[in-house]
Amino acid sequence: MEVIASAPGKVILFGEHSVVYGEPAIAGAVDKRAFIKIKNSPNNKTILKSYDLNFEAEINSKSKKYYLKKGKPGIIRYILEVLYQHHDHSPIEIILSSNIPIGSGLGSSAAVTVATLAALYRYHKVKFNRKSLAFDAHKIEETVQGIASPLDTLVCTHGGIIYLSRSKKFQSLRIKFKTPFVIGYSSKHGNTGKMVKDVKFLKENNPKIVNHIISAMGNLTNSGKYAILHNNVSKIGELMNINHGLLDSLGVSTPELSRMVYLARKKGAVGAKITGAGGGGSIIALCPKNIDSVAAEISKYEKILKTKFTNKGIYYQVKY
Ligand code: PMV
Repeated sequence: MEVIASAPGKVILFGEHSVVYGEPAIAGAVDKRAFIKIKNSPNNKTILKSYDLNFEAEINSKSKKYYLKKGKPGIIRYILEVLYQHHDHSPIEIILSSNIPIGSGLGSSAAVTVATLAALYRYHKVKFNRKSLAFDAHKIEETVQGIASPLDTLVCTHGGIIYLSRSKKFQSLRIKFKTPFVIGYSSKHGNTGKMVKDVKFLKENNPKIVNHIISAMGNLTNSGKYAILHNNVSKIGELMNINHGLLDSLGVSTPELSRMVYLARKKGAVGAKITGAGGGGSIIALCPKNIDSVAAEISKYEKILKTKFTNKGIYYQVKY
């Protein structure tokens, strides 16, 4: 028996950081994906390998220990935790492939966690639905990272664009948002925990100012929802630019991120902003036109992906 499951990466469109203080956020699944194949082991050992990420490890899922034969994958911790919590520890072979850049704030860990969990559930014929899958995957992320927002696993499970309200209810914005965008990702990885802490510190030292910035971010996220529902691309771009300015004021931009944002706007993006925690990581530039010139300009300095939103969340296939 062989199971293949796949989950998409994500970008945060509006509301990173302010979401930590109860404000709404909007994130969308992108058409870059992680794939997990699980099959019976040919040699009585549990093996995890990835040709894309160039690693191979022998795993003991019971003790959460592994022996690396090749490469040094951080993402292994998520797979190990899924196996530890949800596998019967029989020998299996797991093959990971992914075209989501790892560690760039694009949801690679959530996508790998969701896909591994779905594949394992199908392998063991465990019943699940999207709600329970997103919940269980979030628990795994929390165990591995200490803190994790539920947004990533929700988006990677359900696909589409998701609005997380102030009361933490999520709503799928079932729309056809076809405008392509460029993601620019810096070789410098961001550290989400550190950035969240830095913002907290700034807020505590300047409550009268920073509280207003955070609530302005919440208001612009709600305007963003309205603009998305009406497919008002220029308004979405305008709000992204404001959101970037506010994120910059919280100290989460870097020279590399700011350079990408300004180059994208200069070359015709209608909006460009940091996506995710900042301090490294990625920017997103909305490009109804000029996508190639925006991509070419950014790629002189950093890596890029051309992508668009996808409604396709988790899916799997079983072969007997
Ligand atoms: O680093 P990312 O892309 O997972 O985004 C983090 C978003 C924050 O709002 C900064 C933190 C959070 O948990 O919501």
